[in-house]
Amino acid sequence: MPRKILVTSALPYANGPTHLGHVTETVQTDIWVRFQRLRGHDCLYVCADDTHGTPIMLRAQAEGVSPEQLIAQVGVERRSSFERFLISFDNYYTTHSTENRHYTERVFKALDAAGHIARRTVRQAYDEQAGMFLPDRYVKGTCPRCGAADQYGDSCESCSATYSPLELKDPVSVVSGTRPVERESEHLFFRLGDFGDFLRRFSRSGALQEAVANKLDEWFEAGLKDWDISRDAPYFGFEIPGHPGKYFYVWLDAPIGYMASFANFCARTGRDFDAYWRPGGDTSLYHFIGKDILYFHSLFWPATLEGSGFRLPDGVFVHGFLTINGQKMSKSRGTFITAERYLEHLPAEYFRYFLAAKLTSGVEDIDMNLEEFAARVNSEIVGKLVNIASRCAGFITRGHGGALAGALPDPALHAEFVAAGEPIAALYEGREYASAIREIMALADRANLYIDQAKPWLAAKDPARAAEVQAVCTQGLNLFRVLMAYLKPVLPDMAVRAEAFLQAPLARWNEVANPLVGTRLRPYEPLATRVEPAQVQAIVDAPKPAAPAKPGPQAAPAVAPAATEIAIEDFQRVDLRVARIEAAEAVEGADKLLRLTVDVGGERRNVFAGIRKAYDPAALVGRHVVVVANLRPRKMRFGVSEGMVLAAGSGGDDIFLVSPDAGAQPGMQVK
Ligand code: 2FM
Ligand code: ZN
Repeated sequence: MPRKILVTSALPYANGPTHLGHVTETVQTDIWVRFQRLRGHDCLYVCADDTHGTPIMLRAQAEGVSPEQLIAQVGVERRSSFERFLISFDNYYTTHSTENRHYTERVFKALDAAGHIARRTVRQAYDEQAGMFLPDRYVKGTCPRCGAADQYGDSCESCSATYSPLELKDPVSVVSGTRPVERESEHLFFRLGDFGDFLRRFSRSGALQEAVANKLDEWFEAGLKDWDISRDAPYFGFEIPGHPGKYFYVWLDAPIGYMASFANFCARTGRDFDAYWRPGGDTSLYHFIGKDILYFHSLFWPATLEGSGFRLPDGVFVHGFLTINGQKMSKSRGTFITAERYLEHLPAEYFRYFLAAKLTSGVEDIDMNLEEFAARVNSEIVGKLVNIASRCAGFITRGHGGALAGALPDPALHAEFVAAGEPIAALYEGREYASAIREIMALADRANLYIDQAKPWLAAKDPARAAEVQAVCTQGLNLFRVLMAYLKPVLPDMAVRAEAFLQAPLARWNEVANPLVGTRLRPYEPLATRVEPAQVQAIVDAPKPAAPAKPGPQAAPAVAPAATEIAIEDFQRVDLRVARIEAAEAVEGADKLLRLTVDVGGERRNVFAGIRKAYDPAALVGRHVVVVANLRPRKMRFGVSEGMVLAAGSGGDDIFLVSPDAGAQPGMQVK
C-alpha cells in the first residue's frame, strides 16, 4: 500500500550562507525522501527559511537593508545551493509569509482559549540608546561566579555557570556598547507543564530515538518550565493579535513554518492540507533535525500541536553534527565550509555519497576526514561501481553495435543481487545508510569479481568467442544496473546518466528484477572521475591572494622557460604508470583524437590522446604505454580524460608512443 508521507528538514536560519552542516541535514532527509518515492510511496518534502528574530533585524540594520531585503537575498542563495546539492524539495518557502502568520495566530489563539497561555511581568536588560530589550546573548560582562571577563549574559564559558544577564557584573550592551538598565515588561508564556503527562507518553511512543527519549527523562526530572513566547518591539516577526507592541518569539513560529510551507504547496497543487495535519488521518509526518534543537522539537513542538488540535509527528529523527577532520566546523580553523565553496571544487554527489557511507540512525557526530573522503570516492564510486560499467560498455558498443545479449549467462547471480534489494531497503527505511552502502559495495565487489573471472578482454581477442564477450558484459551491465537502482536515492544525477546510457528507466526500486536483455545501449560516457587529494584539500584551504604583478623592467621573459630546472621532489609528484591499452577508437568530430581505455593496474581509465594520425586504433589494443596517472581529470568536449599517454614527436603523424620494455605490467610505477 503506498503511504502518504510528509517530511521536513529543520528550517535554516536566514542570517548567513548555507554551509555543509545545513547540507548534511538536507542530504540525509533527501536520501530518505527519494528512497520512499522509489518504493512507490507518495512522499512530500517541504522546508523554508527561518526568517524572524533579533539577529536578523540587527544584521539587516548593520547592512543598511530592510529585514525583508536581507531574507530575500539569503533565500535566493539558499535555494540555489540546495538545488545544486540535488535536494528534491516539493516546496521551499519562508516563515515570513501570510500562511505562517495565519497558522501561528491560529495555534496561539487555540492555546490561549484552552488556558495554556499565562501572562507575567518580567525584568529584563534594556538598552536605552538602542531603545530595545536585549536578548541574553546581547549582553556581555563579568561572570558573577568566577569573575571571568567578557562573558555572555546567559552562561559563562569559563566556569559553565548559568545566570540572567541582570546578574552580570559590569554589563554592556552588544548593540550600543552602553550599560543596560533593568526594565519591566509583560510577557506571554506557554505553560509547558500542562503537558507533562502527554510529553512523557509521547517520548516513549516510538516517535523518538532511544537516546533522545533518555535525554527527555533528564528534562522531565528537572521540571518543565513555562516558555516565554513573546518579545517586545522592535522585533522582526509577527505582532501578537490583541497585544500591540508584542511579537511572537521566533521559535514559536519557526516550526509552524513546516505547516505554512505545506499550506503554500497545497495552494499551488490542490493537495488537502487537513489530510496531513488533523489528528487521526492516514498520513505520516516526519521531522529531520540536528541534536542542538531537540528541546524545541521534542517538547515545545509536540505540546503546541497537541494543545492546538493538530496531529503529532510520527518521527522526530535527530542527527549529530558534521565535523571536519575530527574538529567542529570553525571559521578560524578554516573548516567552516560553505556549500558554494565545496561546489567550486567538488561534485555534489561525492558529498552525498560520503555522507551516506557515514550516516546511521544515531545521534553521533559525523566526521568528514578529507583523506578518507578522497579515498572512498576513488575506491568505491570510481574504482568499484563505475568500473563495472566502464569495463563492460566498450565491448558491447564496439563489438556488438551496442546490442546486449538476448539472455544472461548467470541468471542466479543476477537474482542474488535482486534479492539483496529488500534487506537494503530495510536499512534505508531505518536510516542506516552506512550499512546500506556497505551491502551495496559488497555487491559491487562481487560484480567486479565476476568480470575478473570471466575476463572478457581475453575472449575479445578471439572472434569465435564474440557471443561469450557479449553475454559476460551483458551480465556485468545488469549487475551494475541493480546497484545503480539501489544507489539512486544517494546518487540521483548519476542514476539519470546511467538510465540514459542503459536506455532503461530506474523509476522504481524493483524495476531491476527483470534483466535488460536484447536491448541497445547508448555510447558510454564516464559516470565519475577520480578526485585528487589537492582538490579535496582546496575546500578548506583559504583562497590564496593573487600575486602582485611585477613592475616593467624586472618582468619575467615573454618566452616560457621550457626546461626550467625542477627539484627531484617536483618530478616525484608526477605519478607515471605502465598501462595496457584495452580499447582504442576514433572520436567522432575530432580528427586528431583517439579515445583509449587503459588498464593502469586493476583500474580502467578513459584517456583522449592526439595520436589518431599516427596510429591505427586496432593496432594499439594490447600495447603497453606510459601514462601520467595523477593528472587532474579534464573535461573535454567528448568526455572526461582521466590521464595522459606519453609520446615523443612534434604532432600529426610525427608521434611515437613511449613504451616500456617487454615484461612491464600495468600499474608498475615508472621512475
Ligand atoms: O536552528 C536553527 O537554525 C533553526 N532555524 C531551526 C528551526 S527548525 C523549525 F523549527 F523551524
Ligand atoms: Zn564564570
